[in-house]
Amino acid sequence: MRASICVSVVVISAVTATASAQDHSYTPADIENGGRLYQTTCSGCHGPAGDEIPGVALGRGVFKRGTSDTDLIAVIKTGIPGTAMPPHAFSDQEAAQIVAYLRNMTVVRTGIGTTVMRGLGDPARGRALFEGKGVTCHRVYGRGPRTAPDLTEVGLTRPLPELRDALLDPSATMRPANRPFRVVTTDGRTIAGRLLNQDTYSIQMLDSSDRLLSLPKRTVREQGFASASPMPSYKGTFTDQELDDLVGFLASLKGFNP
Ligand code: HEC
Repeated sequence: MRASICVSVVVISAVTATASAQDHSYTPADIENGGRLYQTTCSGCHGPAGDEIPGVALGRGVFKRGTSDTDLIAVIKTGIPGTAMPPHAFSDQEAAQIVAYLRNMTVVRTGIGTTVMRGLGDPARGRALFEGKGVTCHRVYGRGPRTAPDLTEVGLTRPLPELRDALLDPSATMRPANRPFRVVTTDGRTIAGRLLNQDTYSIQMLDSSDRLLSLPKRTVREQGFASASPMPSYKGTFTDQELDDLVGFLASLKGFNP
């Protein structure tokens, strides 16, 4: 049974605090208990995989009604007025356990994804870490270079487990459109960057200094994609708490500056 394998992964990552509204670290027992509460209370409407209400995908880790655990606990306890989502008389701890389960639903149910999520960290602390390490490559809200993918909407486009995996194993999670592209010209120059477009006669790319280049194909000797991401893995660089904070920051990026 895959679910039990995944739960043992949580044990190895040794998350010890118990869930409460303030403390967003979960134990495997919290996730398990949250799963039980979900199955008895929520799955009648939302379905066992959380995808039976049109426009709501509880297993994806991306929510329209909030980002933080505290937001989701409030949604569960007070419901969504004017919709069929009812209030629930859970304690903060029970609601937090359900959130712990929602965050890990896909991994627990299917084994897809490699990382069992802990809580979602603090976006402000995550932003400070990101600006320390990341702004030199990625663009967010119109700031930063275009060489690496723009992250302004990454909280909408990537599910949470994938955000965390992208920090730990960038090559495995790289999207085809983001593969680095390299050209060697007939006069011996090597240009690395991203491919924007190409037609019969020319290649348009952004070089590593963020310049838009249009290269006539007759001046190009070699061209190709690399399979490894130029982004370094942050495995071992950040503590678990710092990774939570970074993922919290990335998840908060929804295309507009709050
Ligand atoms: C009676 C049916 C019903 C039950 C029971 C129910 N929900 Fe909902 N829930 C809904 C509906 C309908 C919506 C969509 C409301 C909207 O935005 O239009 C919703 C929305 C949500 C959202 C917001 C989704 C988002 O993308 O922001 C969350 C989170 C949620 N439900 C969690 C739960 C949990 C957890 C439980 C069990 C404790 C639960 N719901 C029980 C009907 C239900």
